[in-house]
Amino acid sequence: MCGIFAYLNYNVKRDRRFILEILFNGLRRLEYRGYDSAGISIDSSSSSDPNGQLSFSPLVFRQEGNIDSLVKSVYKDVASIKLNLEELFCVHAGIAHTRWATHGEPSPKNSHPQTSGAGNEFLVVHNGVITNYEVLKETLTRHGFNFESETDTEVIPKLAKYVFDKATEEGDQSVTFSLVVLEVMRHLEGAYALIFKSHHYPNELIACKRGSPLLLGVKELSEDMHSGAPFLDLKFISENRHPKELFLSSDASAIVEHTKKVLVIEDGEVVHLKDGGVSILKFENEKGICGNALSRPSSVQRALSFLEMEVEQINKGKYEHYMQKEIHEQPESLTTTMRGRLKRGGSTKAKTVLLGGLKDHIKSIRRSRRIVFIGCGTSYNAALAARPIIEELSGVPVTMEIASDLVDRQGPIYREDTAVFVSQSGETADTLLALDYALENGALCVGITNTVGSAIARNTHCGIHINAGCEIGVASTKAYTSQIVVMAMLALAIGDDAISSQARREAIIDGLFDLPNKVREVLKLDQEMKELAKLLIAEQSLLVFGRGYNFATALEGALKVKEVSLMHSEGMLAGEMKHGPLALVDENLPIIVIATRDACFSKQQSVIQQLHARKGRLIVVCSKGDAAAVCPGGSSSCRVIEVPQVEDCLQPVVNIIPLQLLAYHLTVLRGYNVDQPRNLAKSVTTQ
Ligand code: F6R
Repeated sequence: MCGIFAYLNYNVKRDRRFILEILFNGLRRLEYRGYDSAGISIDSSSSSDPNGQLSFSPLVFRQEGNIDSLVKSVYKDVASIKLNLEELFCVHAGIAHTRWATHGEPSPKNSHPQTSGAGNEFLVVHNGVITNYEVLKETLTRHGFNFESETDTEVIPKLAKYVFDKATEEGDQSVTFSLVVLEVMRHLEGAYALIFKSHHYPNELIACKRGSPLLLGVKELSEDMHSGAPFLDLKFISENRHPKELFLSSDASAIVEHTKKVLVIEDGEVVHLKDGGVSILKFENEKGICGNALSRPSSVQRALSFLEMEVEQINKGKYEHYMQKEIHEQPESLTTTMRGRLKRGGSTKAKTVLLGGLKDHIKSIRRSRRIVFIGCGTSYNAALAARPIIEELSGVPVTMEIASDLVDRQGPIYREDTAVFVSQSGETADTLLALDYALENGALCVGITNTVGSAIARNTHCGIHINAGCEIGVASTKAYTSQIVVMAMLALAIGDDAISSQARREAIIDGLFDLPNKVREVLKLDQEMKELAKLLIAEQSLLVFGRGYNFATALEGALKVKEVSLMHSEGMLAGEMKHGPLALVDENLPIIVIATRDACFSKQQSVIQQLHARKGRLIVVCSKGDAAAVCPGGSSSCRVIEVPQVEDCLQPVVNIIPLQLLAYHLTVLRGYNVDQPRNLAKSVTTQ
C-alpha cells in the first residue's frame, strides 16, 4: 500500500544522476507495495544567490504507471529542461513514492509528492490514509487554498504551508521544520507514514508516522566511525558532522543494500534530518485530536538496531520472478522457521519445542477459555490449516475470525481469551484494528509475523516470528507454509504432554524435521504443473474442494489462482458440495479435489465418485501411490497429482505447493505480471 523513500547525502559529493538512481532503486525495491503511479522530488540547483545564500527549488516529477515509466519520463524531462546530471551536491535531500491508489485514480496529479502549491514550498510523500481529510480540505479551501488532486494527502503539504505562513506572519521567523510538522500532525487523523521536503528548509527532511511503517537507515562514510559496531547510539549520530548517507523507507528492503544500521521509527515520532544530524521529537500525548492542546514534544534518544536481512534475500537470483523464487525457496525458509526451536535426542531422548517469544505465556494460553485466530487472506488460511491440530493437542476450543469481520461485528472477545494475530507483514490495517479491539477487551494477544519490529510484533503481549525471510512477491507463498509450521509448533508447545499424546507429538516433531525434504520432493512437480496450466490456460473458472486439514488448502489454492492469474476460482468445503455447488458441475468446469490420506480420505473418495457421476472434469491431489484409489474410472477419468504423504497436520504445507506452482505458471502463460497482480499490493495498510 504505497512505498515511500528518501535519500540525503551529507558532506559527501554526489551528482544528480547518482541521486536519481538511488531514488529509483529505492522505489524499485518498494514497488511491490504499489505500482500504479510514482513520483520523486529533487533539487534544481545548488548555486548561490546574490546574497551568498544557496538557492534551491524543488523539482517534482510524477508519472502514471510503474517505476520504469517514471524513470523514462524523468530522464526525458531532465533533458528537456537541460538539467545537468553531473552537477555535484555536497548535501541534497530527495524524496520518492510508489503508489497504490486509494483516493483518486492513478494519474500524474494524484501521484506523490503532493505539493502545497506553486513553488513547491512543502512537498509530502505519504503511505496510509488521512481519514479527516475532507474537514481539513474544507477549512484550507476557506483559507484560500486551491486543491488540484483527488487525494487525501494533498491536505498535508497545504496544512504545512498554512502553519508555516501563520508562524512567520506572527513574527516567528525561526519556526523549525520539525515544529511545523508537529503542528501538522496534531490535525491529522488516520494512519500515515510521511516524509516532508521544503523549499524553506533546504537539505532537510522530516519523517513522521502513526500507524504505517517507516525506517531510517544510517550509513557512516568515514573510516574511523563505529562502522563495525552493530548498535550505535543515536546521540552520536545527532552530534557528529561526518560524511554520511541517510535513507528513509517504508521497509528494510530498500535500505539493506546501503546499510544495516537502522532505526525503526515509532508512532508519534518526528525525525528531523539536518546538518548531518538526526533528532527525534515525540508527542508526550500522541493521541491528539484536531484542536486539542497537547503537551510539548520531548526529545528522544534511542540506539540504532542491526538488520538481520541479507541483500540476496531481496534479489531474484536465478529466478525470473519473486513469486517463483519464493515458492522454490520453501525448503530453506521452512528450515529457518524451525531452526533452534525443535529438539530431539539428548540424554532423555525427549522431543521438545522451544518458542522463546512465548515462554512466559504458555501457561496462560493453556488456561485460556478459547483461542481466537485473527488474520486476513493467506494468513487467515494458514491459521485455518492449523486449527485442528491446536484443538487436538491443547483441548482449548479454537475459533476463527477474519479481522475486518470481527471489527465490523464488534464480535465477542473476552479477558479469558487468547487472541492470536497472524500476519506476514505485521502491518495489515484490518488486523491491527482487530488487535486494538482485542487489547481493549483484555485478551492475551499473541502475534505471529514475518516482520521484526512491525506494529503487530510490537503491540502484542508476546509472539513468534516465522523467520521465513523477506517475502516480496505480492502473492504470499513461503510465509504461508512457515505460518502453518509455526502454528503446528505452537500446538505442540501448548498441548499437554500426557502419555496418551506422546506418540502423536513425537510423530509430528519427526514430521517437522523431515518436512523440508518432502517439500523439496513436491517441488519436482514444477513441470507437471506447467503442463496442467497449459491445459487450463483458457478456462474462465476453477473450483477447489478440500476438507479437514485441507479445507484451508482449497481456500488458499483458489486464492493464489485468482489473485495472480486473474482466473475466477473458488475454494470450497467438500462437505458443502451437495448443498449447492454441485449444480455447477458439468464436463467443462475444471475441479481440483484435495484427497490426500487422512481421517477424511474416504469421505473425499465419495466426493470424487459423486463428481465423477456428474461427468465432472477432475484433477485430484492425492498421496503417492493412491492414483487408482482416487480415480473411479481409471486414469482416463481424471488427472492425478501425486504428492508425498506426511503427518496429517503438516500435509497442508505439502499440498499447497502444486497449487502455488499452478497459479504461477497459469499467470505467466496468460501473460500477466506475476509479481504485480492487477489492483493489488503487498501490506494492506489501509482499511
Ligand atoms: C494473498 C495475500 C494476502 C495477505 C493479506 C494479509 O497472497 O498475500 O491475502 O495474506 O493481505 O496480509 P498479512 O499477512 O501481511 O497480514
